[in-house]
Amino acid sequence: MTTAKPVLCVGCTVIDFVTINESFPTEDTDRRCLDGYWQRGGNASNVSTVLRLLGANVEFFGMLSKSNGFRVLLDDLDRRGIGTQHCPKTEKDPPFSSVIIVKETGSRTIVHCNKNYPYITYEDFMKIDLDRYGWVHFEARHAHETIKMIKAVREHNRIHGSSIRISLDFETMFEKNLPLCGLCNYVVFSSELAKQQGWKSPRETCYALASSVKPTCPSIICPWGSTGAACLDTAVNEFTNVAALKPDRIVDTLGAGDSFMAGFIYATYVMQSSLPDAVGFANRVAGHKITDFGYDHIAGLQKDDKFTTD
Ligand code: FRU
Repeated sequence: MTTAKPVLCVGCTVIDFVTINESFPTEDTDRRCLDGYWQRGGNASNVSTVLRLLGANVEFFGMLSKSNGFRVLLDDLDRRGIGTQHCPKTEKDPPFSSVIIVKETGSRTIVHCNKNYPYITYEDFMKIDLDRYGWVHFEARHAHETIKMIKAVREHNRIHGSSIRISLDFETMFEKNLPLCGLCNYVVFSSELAKQQGWKSPRETCYALASSVKPTCPSIICPWGSTGAACLDTAVNEFTNVAALKPDRIVDTLGAGDSFMAGFIYATYVMQSSLPDAVGFANRVAGHKITDFGYDHIAGLQKDDKFTTD
C-alpha cells in the first residue's frame, strides 16, 4: 500500500445486474443465462475499486442512497476500504444497469436506468478539505456543477501552493463538457465519442481535441480498444502511440475503460511514470481486467513488467 495521499474519485455509483449469456438474446424471447451476479458499478466507482486493488488510497465522492437495495454497495465500498465519509445521501432509489455479457466474445451491452437520480453539487464538494488529497478525478457530466468543483481544486492549489492533480474521464456530451478540459491536467477521451465527432484515429483525436481546448491544454489520452491507446503531451507537443496488450482470453469487458483510467492514475501518481509509460500501464490493467469477471483479479497484476511503445 502506498503512503501517497488518497485519490478522490468524483462521480457515480450504481448497481450493475450482470448476466452471462451463451449468445446475445433475440428480442421477445424467454431464455436462461449461464450465470449472473450484481456488483457495484458506475465510472468513478469502478475507478475507485481498481485503484484500491492496485494499492492506492482512495475516497469516493458521489450521491449515495438510503434505500435498502443500496446497502450492498455501501458494504462493498466499506469492505474494500474505499472512503465515503463525505458523500451526501438521498432517499431515492439508486440508478442501475442491466448488463448482458456474451460468453463467446466477452462483449458487454449496458442498458442504464438513472431516473434523474441527483448528482453531487458544488456545495457538497465545498464541505471537503481538499488538503487531504493528492489527485482528484472527475467524470465529465453535469458540467455546470463539475466546472465549479474543478475550479475549486485549482483555487485550492493556487492559495495553498499545493499541486493536486486533476483528471477527467470524457465519454459523452462533447459540447457541454468541452469547457472542463482546459482546467484539467489529464483528459482521457473515449474512442466512441471521438467517432461521434468524426475523428478517425487516436492521433486525429488528440490533435483535434487539443485545438478545441482553452485556456490551457491538458495532456490528452485516447484509448482505442484492441488497437491500443495514444497520448499527446501538449506541454512539449509529443505524440505517442502505445500498443495494446493481447490478452490470452477475453471474458468480460465491463469496466475495461474504467480500469484503464485507474491504471493511468496509479502509474502517473503513485509510480510516477512518464505519460507514455503510464498509458502502457493503463493498457496492461485494462488488458488484464478483461481476462476474468469482475475486478478482484486485478490485485494479482505484476506492476513492474516493462511495456512497449511504438
Ligand atoms: C462501466 C460502467 C458500469 C455502469 C455504466 C454506467 O463503465 O461504469 O459499471 O453500469 O458504466 O454508465
